[in-house]
This record gives sequence, structure tokens and C-alpha cells, in this order.
Amino acid sequence: MLTKLLKNTPEDIEIAGDILKNGGLCAIPTETVYGLAANAFDENAVKNIFTAKGRAQDNPLIVHISDIEQLKPLVLEIPEMVLKLADKFWPGPLTMIMKKSDLIPNAVTCGMDTVAVRMPNNETALKIIESAGVPLAAPSANISGGVSPVSAKHCIDDLNGRIDAILDGGDCLVGVESTVLLCTQNPPKLLRPGFVTPDDIKAITKDIIVDDAVLNPLKEGVKPSSPGMKYKHYSPTANVIMITGSSKHYINYVNQQNGDDVFALCFDEDTKNLTKPFVTYGSINDDKAQAANLFNALRILDEKGAKTVFAHSPDVNGVGLAVLNRLLRAAAFRIIEV
Ligand code: TXA
Ligand code: MG
Repeated sequence: MLTKLLKNTPEDIEIAGDILKNGGLCAIPTETVYGLAANAFDENAVKNIFTAKGRAQDNPLIVHISDIEQLKPLVLEIPEMVLKLADKFWPGPLTMIMKKSDLIPNAVTCGMDTVAVRMPNNETALKIIESAGVPLAAPSANISGGVSPVSAKHCIDDLNGRIDAILDGGDCLVGVESTVLLCTQNPPKLLRPGFVTPDDIKAITKDIIVDDAVLNPLKEGVKPSSPGMKYKHYSPTANVIMITGSSKHYINYVNQQNGDDVFALCFDEDTKNLTKPFVTYGSINDDKAQAANLFNALRILDEKGAKTVFAHSPDVNGVGLAVLNRLLRAAAFRIIEV
């Protein structure tokens, strides 16, 4: 299939809207990562997302809306906390899970009785949803198991020839996927950390439960709160190993490693005394920069032919929780304390 490369112009946004309206697939920019969108009401189009990505059949999709009025028909009821959180964080990188209505096809939720909804904070995304005239189901626009795309180039690298179009809306500013919050219970439960932090949510809901799987491997025999938790994620070709410890200890450890294809994935401040090749992912004190740079850095490491990557572990505060959650998965929970 020929994949159209669309620009961020009114004409091309209309073309994207038409493609989606007619059952096609289009990669679209959002503030978090690029999404692979389809009409959420079109069961066949939604099924094609799973094929294009190679996505497991039991991993449900997020539905994207451009207006709060679009939410009502998608769910059985809107809990009070959702209204308050939407008021504060929408449009923005917060996905909320509610009981689904019959309007949402099973293909979107993989048979679950809940649906995940968010309103992206990206002008182009909102215009594409408006142009399509329907809510859009969209997972991240990468091949399943790989690193989420934060530029149109990443979408082309992964999905060229497999989908109808890719609309280039520039680089994603947040860089990690949305916070996912289960809102069918009170207090709500954090299933995936993102730019909206547990403290941000607690300021509105007073309390929040953080799922065990956010920072720990899923225990054997335990049913995950979110099907996505059980799948391999953010996995570059290189073997990533996470290193916890001070800059000094980290640098010493990495410098002692042998092999031509050893790389450091480190903070800006770590680079001065490193004798191994490195890719940085932001300043040690800047959680937001780390989030914005991480996925691009992982893809660059693969392009450079890195075989073993020693990643300097981020601080867990603020958006750092989301960065740590993604890196732990990229490292398949291999951690070395130095
Ligand atoms: O920022 C984002 O959220 C991006 C952009 C494109 O919006 N989308 C994204 O989608 O990251 P995806 O499919 O890569 O991740 C969605 C996650 C998965 O882990 C999935 O299991 C979970 O949300 N999820 C979706 N619906 C759910 C539901 N009803 N119950 C529990 N988890 C759900
Ligand atoms: Mg994904």
C-alpha cells in the first residue's frame, strides 16, 4: 500500500479527516506521541490498526475526542471525578477509563466493559478529529513492542507501506504516552504514569492508588489491571541495562565495560568523563526534558548500532516516574546498582 505523507496544512488535515471518515488509517501527531488513528465507531477500521501494528488482540485502544460533549455517548456514566479532572487537565495527556456504552465496538476495548478516553492537547490532532467528525481510536503509531514514535520520521520508519497516511505535525513536546487512570473506582488507580503526575491528580481527587505494575514486573498468575502491562514495551534492538547510582559511580562502571558496541544512555552532566560513546536524554535535574528526549534517544542508539546500552536511572520524582516506568520496560527490569 502507498502511504500518503501529509503536511500540517488545512488541505491535508481535511484529507486526513476524509481518510479516517472512510475507514482508513492515518498516523497523527499528539502532544505525547504519534497515534495510529481510525474511526472509533468503525469496527473494521479498528481491526486494521491491530494488523498494521502487529498488536496483541487483547490490548485495548484509547479513544480520542476533541470536545467534552463527545464523551457522554461513549460511556454509561461520567463519574464526578472525571468531570473535575477533565476540567483541569483536558485537553492534555490524561487518559481516563470509564464504563463503556454500546456505541463503542468491542474491537476498541477488546471485549472489556470499560473504555479509555482522552482529549489530546495538540491543535492539529484536535482539528483532525473535528475533520473526521468522529472520535478516533488510536494506540501509539509504532510496531508493537518497539519504541513509541515522537516524530513523523519514526512513524515512516515503522509503518510506511502499512497504513493510508502519516500527517507530519512536528515533534511531540511531551514525549511519553499519556497518564492512564482507572476512574471506575474511588480513589482512582494509576495504571500508567505520564506527564500528569500522581500529585497533580491527588490535588483534585484527594487520593490515588498506584498500581503495583507501574514500577515492578507483573507477578506471575496476577491478572493485570491494564492488558498493556503484560506486553514487552519500548524495546530497542540493543540490550538495555539500567544502572542506579551517582554520576561518579555510573561513569566509572560504564568506562570499565568492554566491547565495541557498548553505549551509555546518560544525562548531559555524565558526559564529561565518559570514555565510551554516549547518547544523552537531558539534564539530570530536568524530568520533563528526559521525557521529551527518551524515545528519540532509544531509536538513535539502534541507528548507531549499539549492542549493549547502560542507561543511567532517572529520579522518580514528578514526570521522572513516567521516564523510569518506560526505561524499566526498555531494560526488561535488568537493573544493576553501582
Ligand atoms: O499518549 C497516549 O496515550 C498515546 C497517544 C497516541 O494518545 N496512546 C497510547 O496508546 O499510548 P497505547 O495503545 O500505546 O496505550 C494504551 C494503554 C495500553 O497499555 C492499554 O492496555 C491501556 O492503555 N488501556 C486502554 N484501554 C483500557 C481499558 N479499558 N482498561 C485498562 N487499560 C486500558
Ligand atoms: Mg503503545
